[in-house]
Amino acid sequence: MLSPASNVYKFPDFNHIPPEFKPEILNQVEYLCNGELVPWHGKVIDVFSPIYENTDGQITPIRLGSYPEMAAIHMQPVLQAALDAYNLGRGEWPTLKVSDRIAAIEKFLQRMEVHRSSIVRWLMFEIGKNQNDSEAEFDRTIEYIVDTIAAVKSLDRDTAKIELHQGIYAQVRRGPLGVVLCMGPYNYPLNETFATLIPALIMGNTVIFRPAKFGILLIHPLLQAFRDCFPKGVINVIYGDGKHTAGTLMESGKIDVLAFIGSSRVANILKKQHPHSNRLRSVLGLDAKNPAIILPDADLTIAVNECVNGALGFNGQRCTALKMIFVHRSLIDEFLTQFCAKVDALKLGMPWEKDAFITPLPEPSKPQFLQDLVDDAIKLGAKIQNSYGGQSHLSFYFPTVLYPVAKGMRIYEEEQFGPVVPIIAFDSIDEPVDYIVQSKYGQQVSIFSKNADQIASLVDPLINQVCRININTKCQRGPDVFPFNGRKDSAEGTLSVHDALRVFSIRTMVATRDNNENRALFTEILQGRKSNFLSTDYLL
Ligand code: G3H
Repeated sequence: MLSPASNVYKFPDFNHIPPEFKPEILNQVEYLCNGELVPWHGKVIDVFSPIYENTDGQITPIRLGSYPEMAAIHMQPVLQAALDAYNLGRGEWPTLKVSDRIAAIEKFLQRMEVHRSSIVRWLMFEIGKNQNDSEAEFDRTIEYIVDTIAAVKSLDRDTAKIELHQGIYAQVRRGPLGVVLCMGPYNYPLNETFATLIPALIMGNTVIFRPAKFGILLIHPLLQAFRDCFPKGVINVIYGDGKHTAGTLMESGKIDVLAFIGSSRVANILKKQHPHSNRLRSVLGLDAKNPAIILPDADLTIAVNECVNGALGFNGQRCTALKMIFVHRSLIDEFLTQFCAKVDALKLGMPWEKDAFITPLPEPSKPQFLQDLVDDAIKLGAKIQNSYGGQSHLSFYFPTVLYPVAKGMRIYEEEQFGPVVPIIAFDSIDEPVDYIVQSKYGQQVSIFSKNADQIASLVDPLINQVCRININTKCQRGPDVFPFNGRKDSAEGTLSVHDALRVFSIRTMVATRDNNENRALFTEILQGRKSNFLSTDYLL
């Protein structure tokens, strides 16, 4: 085991970073608007890695490059490009045959696959995600796109028919909604952004995409592919702070769909900026504080392993992370012993190092934020349970197990989104159930037990509090074919390969009264393949 003392403080000498991972500086001086990489001569924002370099004892963050700091005045041409490409639903892209839109996405997919190693490297350096998880994020995104193409074909086949009800013939399909503003989170800057971007595009919408607050340069290798694979204006990529970019776009009233994964605070600001709330649709993935409940007859080995991974995978920076652990009092001592031993054995390291589990945190203010949560809990009676808990250095914060946590502490209510694990012992099951019922979050819960009756008695009261109950399994989003959503402040709308196609489109139909003339007209249109929408062609 490598302890924090022997490991955490050893940031690398830049020259000792393995050559295959060493980042190249990227000063990005263009953005994508209306099918062109527009040269940028204005102000830029520097990008620093959460990884520091240690050169002759001088420890400084590695500068990775910069990107354009676009302002409100730069939004109008971008918005106009997306509006023109949509052209009130009459543009080339929204009226294209589904098979042609799929062909464009497939072309993009081929271009994207070529950039795997550089995007993985950017993930490691921009957000500190370890190599395995960075590769998994890339591969999962590719798989998501492949599955989305298959789902669109299936949807198209299901609707390639004319129905007759009560004397009315109709073809019901799904049509696009308009211009989508698409923004993802920094913890999955590729995957979670593309999980909305690709469905939005494939359903015929046009998109303005603003990368997450960290994980920005990793999009750069894809800009040319976006430009080359889609008609001009269909996808536009902007950079700069949210207030001046996203805020300005929302205030225009011309955004039809807000696809945002981030905090409910920001989502609420953005939604309120839109002057026509009835016109705006929102697809939101927001805050969460998923609890684990360890019942008296749980398999402790399973519970401990799932809770370590569930609470601390990617340093706890997952919206689905376990952020509160309730343990039955009969098990608390044994649980704490096993849990803390596992936590203290987690390897700290640079993202490229084998088995590195705890890696630098991308948000510069996060270590202090976590420390404040820990200090507050300690002041109110909690104790740090693990040997290395509470240690931090620059962008590293060692996982910190807090017990006993109680109502009134900040960590009881606030989403930590980082490596602090609050634990509560309970006597009555009403305690964790009440916590979930009273919570402002409603994403998922994990229950650990071997007793079918116990599990069943919890499933029924909890199923209407959250949207996924995991039995002897950590909380997680995937597999991506399953619905990913939440109640209360945790989400709006449902994402999955299947559902995303539906949230970025609307059911729309062509209908006619059943008589000889109308039948003949429909037949002529169908047989002559005169319409892209009114068509019974079967897409394989
Ligand atoms: O940050 C929220 C992500 O959707 C979590 O995804 O459960 O696959 O890590 P995950």
